[in-house]
Amino acid sequence: MEKKKDIVMSGIRPTGFLHLGNYFGAISNYVKMQEEFNCFFMVADLHSLTTHPDTKELKANVYRVLAENIACGLDPDKVALYCQSHLSETAELYLYLNMMAYKGELEKTTTFKDKVRLNPENVNAGLLTYPVLQTADIILHRAKYVPVGKDQEQHLEMARTFTNRFNHRYGEVFPEPVAFNYNQKLVKVPSLDGEGKMSKSESQLATLYLADSDDMIIKKVMKAKTDSGPSEKNAPKPDYIENIFTLMNLVCTPATIQHFEDDYNNCSIRYGDLKKQLACDMVNFIAPIRNKVDAILKDEDGLKQIMKKGAEKANISAAETMKQVRKAMGLNYF
Ligand code: TRP
Repeated sequence: MEKKKDIVMSGIRPTGFLHLGNYFGAISNYVKMQEEFNCFFMVADLHSLTTHPDTKELKANVYRVLAENIACGLDPDKVALYCQSHLSETAELYLYLNMMAYKGELEKTTTFKDKVRLNPENVNAGLLTYPVLQTADIILHRAKYVPVGKDQEQHLEMARTFTNRFNHRYGEVFPEPVAFNYNQKLVKVPSLDGEGKMSKSESQLATLYLADSDDMIIKKVMKAKTDSGPSEKNAPKPDYIENIFTLMNLVCTPATIQHFEDDYNNCSIRYGDLKKQLACDMVNFIAPIRNKVDAILKDEDGLKQIMKKGAEKANISAAETMKQVRKAMGLNYF
């Protein structure tokens, strides 16, 4: 008999327009996991309501994030790829879990405090209980592994707290969810201006999006910060040069990288050439993904089918969990 696969669950915020950091930091992990695990990947459209009550752009953002993830290699036939709002059980479990989440601990959450500071006029209860909803997402499938970045560690810690509280109070229904990454340290994709990592909030020009046109990619790469080159052989690289090599490592061939490493070490490096090569390899990496995204987005019916199929798969596992939850809680009156 085939061994039962462990269950993996993660949520993707529908912010639209993924960048290279998302690709190497998260999606490439998902793509690998889909071969080994029973995966549930969800677009967190309900979570976005906590900060973005205006839903004018929500649908387009949900479509885009789905299309981008599929274009990057997530296979809707292998995983359950679905929208949070298509699973009404999420709301039910969220309600139960809210009874075991205390105001004090929720108020201490870093992301909550940050959002309060940024938007003091919209401190709604949904914002406060954001980690409870996230817990519901995860344990609704009795998931064991949650591939997330560092910024989600506290939410996951809280998920464990709520899960343990439930199990303690009503009986062992859920495994304790843990963060999961293949390579202990996640690939950090540096930004093009030599400062920090690529992210949405950083300068647009320092971040490469999967939707960027060829010209835009070239323009951004060519603007990356360099200097007049090393004056000593085998000198250590300044951060911003190290970053360019890190980016090359993601998309260039080993021979190309070695060539520029050698040039650097013997002081003959020409950063213009290096950036031209990097730009060319970046275009070759991003353009096929971008074109795939465009094709997927054009076929709206196809996308709807994918969402429907994902919701059906997710529904089966959610319905089974909720049966166990209601029974454990004594809410099974018939
Ligand atoms: N909060 C996560 C983020 O901001 C998204 C998310 C929602 C999530 N539900 C989840 C992540 C469940 C992991 C598991 O990125």
